[in-house]
Amino acid sequence: MAEVGSPNSHQPVEIDYMELDTIIEEQFNRDKENLIMILQAIQRKYNYLPQASLIYLAEKIGVPISKIFGVGTFYSTFSLEPRGKHIISVCLGTACHVRGAQRVRESIQETLNIEDGQTTEDMRFTLESVRCLGCCSLGPVVRVNDDIHGRITSDMTGKILENYN
Ligand code: FES
Repeated sequence: MAEVGSPNSHQPVEIDYMELDTIIEEQFNRDKENLIMILQAIQRKYNYLPQASLIYLAEKIGVPISKIFGVGTFYSTFSLEPRGKHIISVCLGTACHVRGAQRVRESIQETLNIEDGQTTEDMRFTLESVRCLGCCSLGPVVRVNDDIHGRITSDMTGKILENYN
């Protein structure tokens, strides 16, 4: 796997306002009742909720920006910080922990040269720890995006991550 260097410095992304209009107006009728679904759609596009997009959204649907930030910070599925193209979730729940999840996480940290919660400089990966992914019998479990990888050992992680470009 290529060296990825230090964690990213959170460069702002370019916002495509025409695409935002499509999401806000065409898909969700500019309806504030659809706020959470609009935020989900924005996060699907950028992998996080860019601040500029939230300010734009607030104006478009007539909801105070403070409320939109409040929703963005309340739900753990939303991120206000840039995240990588691929989200790696290492389960540190009890069943995975006793089977060596900590060593698996350390191996990923070493491979990617990032700490828990950080994103690689090339914006390819974000690493996060979670508590139970609901498939304890497969532990230790690592999820990459929607893919579940079970019975992982620390020497398998590099090979798995190579599949995500
Ligand atoms: S404890 Fe890891 S999947 Fe349940």
